[in-house]
Amino acid sequence: MFKDLWQRRRALVEADLIKELRRTESLDENLMRAMEYSLMAGGKRLRPILLMAAADTIDGAGEKFITVADALEMIHTYSLIHDDLPAMDNDDYRRGKLTNHKVFGEATAILAGDALLTLAFEVALRQKDVAPEILSAVLREISIAAGAAGMVGGQAIDLRSEGVQIDLSTLKLMHLGKTGALFKAAIRSGALLAKAPADKLNALTRYAEAFGLAFQITDDILDVAGDATILGKPTGSDEKNHKSTYVSLTSLDEAKRLATAAVDEALTALEIFGTEADFLRELVKYLVARRK
Ligand code: IPE
Ligand code: IPE
Ligand code: MG
Ligand code: MG
Ligand code: MG
Repeated sequence: MFKDLWQRRRALVEADLIKELRRTESLDENLMRAMEYSLMAGGKRLRPILLMAAADTIDGAGEKFITVADALEMIHTYSLIHDDLPAMDNDDYRRGKLTNHKVFGEATAILAGDALLTLAFEVALRQKDVAPEILSAVLREISIAAGAAGMVGGQAIDLRSEGVQIDLSTLKLMHLGKTGALFKAAIRSGALLAKAPADKLNALTRYAEAFGLAFQITDDILDVAGDATILGKPTGSDEKNHKSTYVSLTSLDEAKRLATAAVDEALTALEIFGTEADFLRELVKYLVARRK
């Protein structure tokens, strides 16, 4: 049931993403091809799915917010294209395919990322059946989460922490930024779009923070202990770049323990919900046990 819904929604998001992309004009064909290459390369589509799942806990109708959900996937995809660039993590594979810059060159990869980021906001504004004041509040959250106070800020900490000793609280801040911020924006956007009352919004926010942490700790673990063929991206990337991660700062066992603790925290946050939050419960448990 949990996996079925995930797969169904994943297919829904993919179909909608390509539809939104095809509606978009570009002055340059090659740029458009580069955008489509990474956006349609697969991926778990977690951020759109979380947005819908959070809305489901409020009114059971998450799918109607698919357009804002698409926008989050565009921002996420841009962040991956830039993350893989030689100036950042310098990786050759992503989502089971060559990275964007390996196929299109660095300059086009940078521009494809830029264009996906800005397209996200154009697309989000196409969302139907939402009051303008709610949509603008949601877009404000997403803008902040994507920028210096969120994902980009976390990436900046990540880069300046290469090869240096940082403490655990800085590491946590980095994870909450580079990965947690977009997850939190996804979940809060779903809740806000569905007009969640304050207590539920707060509970979902707590869940989101714990989810983001559990997810990125697991990403760090998979970089050491995962299988590159299954992951669709290289392992050993963090060691190669002398990154500060939960594994490098603690140990593989301690990282696993901390990921489990974050899952428990996420589950506790959902205690005020009944079965309507079962998908979110299953998802966080699954994601620390995942292989990709
Ligand atoms: C990878 O994100 C980058 C991180 C934030 C750790 P995902 O693991 O969600 O990547 P895709 O979208 O499934 O490829
Ligand atoms: C980056 O984290 C998260 C982003 C904001 C893209 P990583 O650098 O660990 O992500 P992967 O392992 O390359 O997917
Ligand atoms: Mg990185
Ligand atoms: Mg990386
Ligand atoms: Mg990683």
